[in-house]
Amino acid sequence: MSRQYEKLEKCYGYYRSLTDFKPEAGLILGSGLGGYAGNMKVEMEIPYGDIPGFPVSTVQGHDGRFILGYIGNVPAVVMKGRVHYYEGYAMEDVVLPVRLMKKMGIKVLFLTNAAGGINRNFQVGDFMMITDQISSFVPSPLIGENVSELGDRFPDMTHIYDEELQNLIEETAEEEKIPLQKGVYLQTTGPNFESPAEIRMYSVLGADAVGMSTACEAVAARHAGVRICGISCISNMASGISEEELSHLDVQSVADKRAGEFERLVTKSIEKIGEHIG
Ligand code: HPA
Repeated sequence: MSRQYEKLEKCYGYYRSLTDFKPEAGLILGSGLGGYAGNMKVEMEIPYGDIPGFPVSTVQGHDGRFILGYIGNVPAVVMKGRVHYYEGYAMEDVVLPVRLMKKMGIKVLFLTNAAGGINRNFQVGDFMMITDQISSFVPSPLIGENVSELGDRFPDMTHIYDEELQNLIEETAEEEKIPLQKGVYLQTTGPNFESPAEIRMYSVLGADAVGMSTACEAVAARHAGVRICGISCISNMASGISEEELSHLDVQSVADKRAGEFERLVTKSIEKIGEHIG
């Protein structure tokens, strides 16, 4: 058994000592979506700090806990707060929560984040459904001994964002009359925002939005055979695209303002996904 799997088994053992709840969907909340539990029938909350060996976030606005309950009729586990690579954790620890959710039973992972807009057709406050990603600027979370209990050494990433889930999200956005952009998400290590030259480079490489999370989680989840979808809230235009200087507070405040509609889109999408995939 790999060392990382042993660690995972310890976390999972603790989880099972508390509950036999088996979520089908996982949802990771990005900046600004902290109030999401109001959309759920909550069964139980587990602070990350209670779980032995679990990485605990240090970022303001990222309160760390799992929320177990129902989104509509869908049994779900929600991560309120995530850990970021820039906090100093090894990549394999950054994705430990995703792997734990897989062990809990999730089939589908819904990723959300706040991101900087690179595509000039985007506006602050837009939602972007993630169609693909560039994770080449951060280390792969799969480096090291393969966790063979979860997946293959060389997992395919061709369909990293599940096409059927994308279609269901698009249908939901249309029904809810919520405009939805689409694009490629690029992950940087952070914690600094990018320079204008970096953003020009990312644009040439095909990125539509940039952020400091998500892509590594998607790689780990795909490795473990979880179906993935994701939406970014464009909280600012990226460096050099807008003349304004960037701050975490501004990111947070735009994400907060858009939280109501974002939550509606995510909730309705998960309900629809629950109806379509059993
Ligand atoms: N860059 C990186 N991460 C971000 C940004 C950005 O402009 N906005 C929100 N998260």
